[in-house]
Amino acid sequence: MTAKKKPKVYITRKLPDAVETRMRELFEAELNIDDAPRTRDEIAAAMKTADVLVPTVTDRIDEALIAEAGPQLKLIASFSNGFDHIDVDAAARKGITVTNTPNVLTEDTADMTVALILAVNRRLVEGSRILTDRPGDWAGWSPTWMLGRRIWGKRIGIVGMGRIGTAVARRAKAFGLSIHYHNRKRVNPATEEELEATYWDSLDQMLARVDIVSVNCPSTPATFHLLSARRLALMQPSAIIVNTARGDIIDEAAMIQLLRDGRIAGAGLDVYQNEPVVNPKLVKLANQGRVVLLPHMGSATIEGRIDMGDKVIINIRTFFDGHRPPNRVLP
Ligand code: DGY
Repeated sequence: MTAKKKPKVYITRKLPDAVETRMRELFEAELNIDDAPRTRDEIAAAMKTADVLVPTVTDRIDEALIAEAGPQLKLIASFSNGFDHIDVDAAARKGITVTNTPNVLTEDTADMTVALILAVNRRLVEGSRILTDRPGDWAGWSPTWMLGRRIWGKRIGIVGMGRIGTAVARRAKAFGLSIHYHNRKRVNPATEEELEATYWDSLDQMLARVDIVSVNCPSTPATFHLLSARRLALMQPSAIIVNTARGDIIDEAAMIQLLRDGRIAGAGLDVYQNEPVVNPKLVKLANQGRVVLLPHMGSATIEGRIDMGDKVIINIRTFFDGHRPPNRVLP
């Protein structure tokens, strides 16, 4: 009996050692040891010879790139939950299956969302920087100094009540927030009851009533600038916005203007419209203590990355065993 040929798998970024070791055992794996992002030309060349491409959110796998792929490329097994960086329709047209790594980033991303809510409302980064950037400047405790906004008893409005939105709601409830949400459709009654959540069919109406807006929906053509200039202007001047989803869901320029004008109190951002470029106006606002900025690290835990790698491996193995991979993304 001849041994089954191992699929040739091209991985665009450095992955955790344990994941790479397993990939080497199972596949003819071309790894990225130094983690330098692969150029478009390098990825295009790989797509002419590899059976599987393993991209991440930093790679734009668009229609033109997919059109250039060789006929041997059968699977794009993305090392990511989101798949807005892949033209899934173009892949389907070319007979290429696309998979992602859902479920394993949910809790970590929800944790980071709550961390940003706390950081913005309780001025965590600003406070820490007083001690680290200007040591000796602290004159001691004062009743009127470094006052933030209370979280307990306020209202959170979650935009997108999928897995991550629901995990944020569970945490928010424990922090004494009342839960409001907007979603394409209502979540099941048991979840609504558990979270004591109020559903808003109208996003506009919800935005006008909440103290914290948390963006947790995927980036799709329908959610591009969902938080438009007009909608952001509906928020209360004391309200903050937190985004751990994708930068293009918010009209970033409009949000910056509203923050500068004091028409929104603050923002906690993990994602940006033109990553990895961050608008310098946002950096200025961060230096003024109005916003907290993180470099897209919502899902960045050791455990999460290993779980993502496991999912990629299962998707590839299942596909080459002739079955439907568990995390197939449909066009
Ligand atoms: C994803 O996988 O979609 C995340 O944004 C990366 O952390």
